[in-house]
Amino acid sequence: MTENGVKTEEQGHIEAAQPKRIKKKRGDFRFGPTLGEGSYSTVILAREIESGREYAMKVLEKRHIMREKKVPQVEREKQVLSRLDHPFFVRLYFTFQDTERLYFGLSVARKGELLSKIKQLGKFDLECSRFYTAQIVSALQHLHSLNIIHRDLKPENILFNDKMQIQITDFGTAKELKDSGDEPRSSSFVGTAQYVSPELLKDKKACKSSDLWALGCIVYQMLTGQFPFKAPNEYLIFQQIVNCKYEFPEDFDPNARDLISSLLQLDPMMRLGSSSCGGYEKLMEHPFFTGIDWENLANQAAPKTM
Ligand code: ADE
Repeated sequence: MTENGVKTEEQGHIEAAQPKRIKKKRGDFRFGPTLGEGSYSTVILAREIESGREYAMKVLEKRHIMREKKVPQVEREKQVLSRLDHPFFVRLYFTFQDTERLYFGLSVARKGELLSKIKQLGKFDLECSRFYTAQIVSALQHLHSLNIIHRDLKPENILFNDKMQIQITDFGTAKELKDSGDEPRSSSFVGTAQYVSPELLKDKKACKSSDLWALGCIVYQMLTGQFPFKAPNEYLIFQQIVNCKYEFPEDFDPNARDLISSLLQLDPMMRLGSSSCGGYEKLMEHPFFTGIDWENLANQAAPKTM
């Protein structure tokens, strides 16, 4: 019997066909160029021979994952991705494995990282920054409504698809919360220096609002091309974060300034978008977002400057 209940010659008898999906295998795909490389995985463009469909195939070496004790991280990524079905997140279509490797079939985000785009353009204009900030807000609203925190939100983890819509990826360090996640809770994970929240540095605690801090850093970076908290080493960056020490360039848009200041609040409960500050409704009402059609964000064309 094959996996989906088809008769085989050796068995010589027929069993009822099972409504079970056939697991895909490496041989079902033609592998093309490498799209990205991480510490624990390689993402390769792969075309499924039968359907002609393209996937970003994340390939993980089992031995390496086990040696580096990353099994829980990989399981978490699969679990979280399988719960996400939203236009602003990379989608997980299937997984399979062979003796040496694990394979995650993801949607292809062909247009690179937000970080590369910021570097390419130097910085984003106001219209572009507004458009992509709104997409990230909409994505976070969905993620947080599922009681999931990303914990490592940064422009390297925000990719673009062919329509130049964001595709948030990298859920290896995400956390599924048992409750609303408004109260900070213990976290052994510390994200990337420039985007890490003060509560994580001070109390080793993270909450949904920690993603809003990262959002504040990303909006600043889109509009200036710089990190808000910058210093020659991580220790000094952390010092600036815990003291919320950053400056705006002269002639900075006042609405953008107000939005960033409202997100970069030391107290997570005081951040715009947190449930204690009116939640996402209040965040979306901020004057920076004037003109944004929140219902239709995923169907709108990206600004021309992109
Ligand atoms: N690099 C990492 N993940 C990717 C994806 N889903 N699409 C394109 N490149 C990627």
